[in-house]
Amino acid sequence: MKKSIETTFKGKFAPFLLKWNKEKNRREMPWKGEKDPYKIWLSEIILQQTRVEQGLSYYNIFIKTFPNVHKLANAKDEKIFKLWEGLGYYTRCRNLIATARLIAKERKGVFPDTYEEILSLKGVGPYTAAAISSFAYNLPHAVVDGNVFRVLARVFGLTTPTDSTIGKKHFNALAEELLDKKQPGLYNQAIMDFGATICKPAVPLCKKCVFKKHCVAFENDMVAELPVKEKKIKIKKRWFYYIVIEFKNEVAIVQRKGKDIWQDLHEFPLIESVKALNKSNILKQLVLKQWLIEGTYEVRDISSHFKQLLSHQLINSQFITIKLNKKIEGNWKWISKEKLKTFAFPQLINQFLKNLL
Ligand code: ADE
Repeated sequence: MKKSIETTFKGKFAPFLLKWNKEKNRREMPWKGEKDPYKIWLSEIILQQTRVEQGLSYYNIFIKTFPNVHKLANAKDEKIFKLWEGLGYYTRCRNLIATARLIAKERKGVFPDTYEEILSLKGVGPYTAAAISSFAYNLPHAVVDGNVFRVLARVFGLTTPTDSTIGKKHFNALAEELLDKKQPGLYNQAIMDFGATICKPAVPLCKKCVFKKHCVAFENDMVAELPVKEKKIKIKKRWFYYIVIEFKNEVAIVQRKGKDIWQDLHEFPLIESVKALNKSNILKQLVLKQWLIEGTYEVRDISSHFKQLLSHQLINSQFITIKLNKKIEGNWKWISKEKLKTFAFPQLINQFLKNLL
């Protein structure tokens, strides 16, 4: 490496970033400059694992439907899940509901105003607590996420893996050191915007960058190699065979329980497998499970394949539509087809339903 500027440049990092923010950052978002901790909290929960472009419309709809924490706390779970539909990571939604109810009931609607108390809320980790406490109360806590890892790794030429214990410690300490303690909210929003719009993962805008003359990665032609990660994500494959059991105008649905994916969302009765199954395998299982009785049904359709990629798994699915001529009660509820729209489903099922309804 030609030169390392880590020690000399640290003190200038925040002024450079804030200069860029003032003169060049044109990113407009409704929560920017917001002081209401409820709205800030809501925006930050929505933006966990979600791109701003995708989160924007959800934020606007949530704020319109639930303008304060009491409105959110008093709403029915199913209504909130329905508005959340499509954002994924449904644990976030469950935590959102639990925290709204805690603040509304136990704290009489008053949002906590210390970093530690904010961090203790369900669904709030160090990143979100730093964002909320700095935006709402100007408390000096630095946000550290993938964007920040990338900016710091490149500008300071850091090759320690960001997902190693030592790397996390190092990056966290550096992020706290660089933070502008007088204007932490402004600084945190600026570094998020800078990471998302200039120091981007695949095609960073190095020519336009304020750090161009000081960035170790740029100077050493290492921008594409940084940040370094230790572990590669392994994608697990799963096969979901959804059985769309119809009787007259009704269809059987179940609510997904347990700690696996899509908890609390609805779906059709499911046969899961670690490998692909064929029609006769599936039908045999259905009779064994007593979901079907020989001679009382007809297989109407087997759909094409629908896929959904989650962070660590690929769900491959097919829908087998079965028409009953005699109603069977099982571990499901019978819903009229018109009412299906009121339940929250995973995206993959929504895609199937779009063609069906
Ligand atoms: N990601 C998480 N929080 C954000 C924010 N306040 N602005 C832009 N992107 C974000």
